[in-house]
Amino acid sequence: MSIEQVFVAGAGLMGHGIAQVLATSGRRVVLYEPEHARATAGRERIAASLARAVAKGRLDEEAAGQAIERVATTDEIAAVGTADLVVEAVFEDVDVKSGLWRQLDRLAPPRAIFATNTSSISIDRLAAAVSEERQGRFVGMHFFSPVPVMPLIELIRGSATSEETEAAIRDLATDLKKQVIVSADRPGFIVNRTLMPFLAEAMRAYEQGVGTADDIDTGAKVGLNHPMGPLELADFIGLDVCLGIMRVLWDGFGQEQFRPPRALEELVAAGHLGQKTGRGFHTYPR
Ligand code: CAA
Repeated sequence: MSIEQVFVAGAGLMGHGIAQVLATSGRRVVLYEPEHARATAGRERIAASLARAVAKGRLDEEAAGQAIERVATTDEIAAVGTADLVVEAVFEDVDVKSGLWRQLDRLAPPRAIFATNTSSISIDRLAAAVSEERQGRFVGMHFFSPVPVMPLIELIRGSATSEETEAAIRDLATDLKKQVIVSADRPGFIVNRTLMPFLAEAMRAYEQGVGTADDIDTGAKVGLNHPMGPLELADFIGLDVCLGIMRVLWDGFGQEQFRPPRALEELVAAGHLGQKTGRGFHTYPR
């Protein structure tokens, strides 16, 4: 099926990035947040990112202008009524996501594919929020941050996901110039199952005074050729998001490597969520 109109629920770090790549690929996008100012802020971030791409010569000015014109914002969930595809990129919490999917299922056209950008929660568990007819069109489509830069999509099929739905998401990914990997519907899928123990171990090393935050990060950057050190990467992803993912992994597997570190719990409890609040394992000038 052809995907022309996309409703993106959530205009945060992931949601606005997903809206940007969809709009740049020629699709019309409605960016939804229950609070309109947040949707508008997401659209402004897209405009700024497109302007940077133009300044760097990666995109011509006309294409950037057309892309931003394709992004509308709304606080009306009923705007999902014309969507071919719904992408959900809201906070990593099963109740928040399920509640939203339940509402969207009542309002979206029967043809619409439902793709969740969950980074760890079971697709079958989220699909339980929608009607049986929709479950064949429910799929995991996990993007990586920054979405315009990272060329990977993890595709996760639930037990009811149809071949047609998988094919439509694969075609879309190709059009977005993203490479697809397929993961079974297990906690954390492939990437976060392998990434989170690394980030957690770096946090435990920090907690135990093995090294400073800078030295731990420099170890991975200079010694392993990673673009960011593990603490810096956790700050970049968002410490609340990392904690949410680690909790899903810890609940799902009960293995020590997935246990959320104390330093992470404490930072999140204090409201220090990483880059987005200006402080996490490192501090960031606002
Ligand atoms: N939006 C759009 N483009 C961006 C961007 C953003 N937020 N941030 C950086 N870029 C672009 C820059 O414009 C630049 O493009 P050009 O080379 O064409 O000029 C390119 O990315 C490199 O940027 P910079 O030179 O400014 O900075 P850098 O070299 O330090 O790279 C980075 C920045 C790409 C973020 C790099 O540090 C990196 O790859 N970090 C690791 C990111 C990562 O691991 N992401 C996955 C996180 S896990 C996840 O998302 C899933 C989950 O469920 C938790």
